[in-house]
Amino acid sequence: MASSTSPITISIITLFLLLNPTTSQKTENLKSTTQRQTNCEKRWIHIRKLPSIFNLDLLSNCSEYTFLDDLCPFLANHGLGQKTHNRSHSWYRTDSAMLELIFHRRMLEYPCLTEDPKTANAVYLPYYAGFDALRYLYGPEYNSSEEHGVQLFHYLQNDDPSIWNRFSGHDHFLVMSRPAWDFSQPLDSDPHLWGTSFLELPQFFNVTALTLEARAWPWQEHAVPFPTSFHPPNLALLDSWIQRVRRSKRVSLALFAGGGGYSSTPNIRRSIRIECDNSSGSSKNGNSFGYENLCDTIDCSNGVCEHDPIRFMKPMLGANFCLQPPGDTPTRRSTFDAILAGCIPVFFEDLSAKLQYSWHLPENEFEGFSVTIPKEDVVFKGLRILDVLQRIPRARVRRMREKVLELIPRVVYRKHNSSPGLRAKKDAFDLTIDGTLDKIRTRLHHLDLLV
Ligand SMILES: *[C@@H]1O[C@H](CO)[C@@H](O)[C@H](O)[C@H]1NC(C)=O
Ligand SMILES: *[C@@H]1O[C@H](CO)[C@@H](O)[C@H](O)[C@H]1NC(C)=O
Ligand SMILES: *[C@@H]1O[C@H](CO)[C@@H](O)[C@H](O)[C@H]1NC(C)=O
Ligand SMILES: *[C@@H]1O[C@H](CO)[C@@H](O)[C@H](O)[C@H]1NC(C)=O
Ligand SMILES: *[C@@H]1O[C@H](CO)[C@@H](O)[C@H](O)[C@H]1NC(C)=O
Repeated sequence: MASSTSPITISIITLFLLLNPTTSQKTENLKSTTQRQTNCEKRWIHIRKLPSIFNLDLLSNCSEYTFLDDLCPFLANHGLGQKTHNRSHSWYRTDSAMLELIFHRRMLEYPCLTEDPKTANAVYLPYYAGFDALRYLYGPEYNSSEEHGVQLFHYLQNDDPSIWNRFSGHDHFLVMSRPAWDFSQPLDSDPHLWGTSFLELPQFFNVTALTLEARAWPWQEHAVPFPTSFHPPNLALLDSWIQRVRRSKRVSLALFAGGGGYSSTPNIRRSIRIECDNSSGSSKNGNSFGYENLCDTIDCSNGVCEHDPIRFMKPMLGANFCLQPPGDTPTRRSTFDAILAGCIPVFFEDLSAKLQYSWHLPENEFEGFSVTIPKEDVVFKGLRILDVLQRIPRARVRRMREKVLELIPRVVYRKHNSSPGLRAKKDAFDLTIDGTLDKIRTRLHHLDLLV
């Protein structure tokens, strides 16, 4: 029965640390130093205390979501998942849906936490919205998905309502580690389409939701990077990874790691597959560009790649450009895996990243580290992706790669409890906090709620 005890152990450890934020902070002797070095002015965050039905109970039920695979292994290491192998320090089998847990754990070591909500500049709701959504998305409560969030709102209204009422919820934020589409089914939708209605509930319009993908128009959500599998605990491990990425020999011009593209209807993934398959002939005979392959594909259909980073990180390290076509939704985790591997991302629409991750991938420098080829030109006008990429001068490719390398620390979620040296560099979590505090401050100003 070893397989059934380990998840429980994991949950208990998680429960302990999460339920005792103050204990875990006290035992963390780094905290006082960090706090002294950090200017907390206008950066105080209060963690709203929520009953465990809104977070921990959802985790301890990890094996009960019978309509999905067992989620328990992904909870290990506070949501980073299990290590890829025993001696790994930085690599985990991370499931992107665990960001709610990863984020919560990181929040506990945020240096400017306050117990007093009245002095807080923002209020964090440690609600595992994506986990809670599973029963509506895939489970028995499919037909009542407009109720997702009602219970939470009821709690916020009834338990110490002054916390919410101070700014009518405008200072509250939470993480929802799925695309916003999964939470934005209109309330009057008939027939039932897809998703819960959490983000459509007027009760939550004022709350900032951090999602893995935002909708196209400015709603209450903001997109944050998908977690990759790399979570270094110290600066030396981050730096040596970046060195390895910089030295890596790029033997392929382009790489597509993903699923789909096999249907007969015209779409960008299909065009990519056709072009890549067709290019393999020229690579066998060698080609005039010095690449061993012009285009590689890694078949990640049926989610076989997500928990097995070796499958795609090695090929990405060997490619100059990584193709990031939209899949079921415009964004993909592989954008962040590619950046981590120093592989220049190639987008086919602005919704895939440019209009999403402005806190992490600066919009005004976007052309400096990525290529955008409009998908219509490829699918309907016969523009060949590999031609476009081959025409980019080597010197420009080198400059782009340097920019990609600079982005690596910004998209990594470092391991909790990491070394002070690493903490001094802003990672994906830190930039998310900066962006959230800014967004809330601007909102409160606009509403004249700040005195
Ligand atoms: C956990 O699972 C049990 C049994 O399936 C269920 O009764 C309970 O409502 C679930 N709890 C949560 C918070 O989902
Ligand atoms: C990893 O370590 C665990 C416990 O220390 C051990 O049971 C397991 O066999 C090890 N796995 C490998 C692949 O070495
Ligand atoms: C939801 O409602 C539809 C139509 O009434 C029904 O066919 C389906 O079985 C219901 N699903 C669940 C999970 O109850
Ligand atoms: C959201 O904010 C508006 C404007 O500040 C306010 O009128 C409304 O009551 C708030 N909604 C909730 C649910 O608190
Ligand atoms: C396949 O490649 C050849 C030469 O490389 C090219 O002429 C042809 O148009 C390509 N076919 C498709 C379907 O892309």
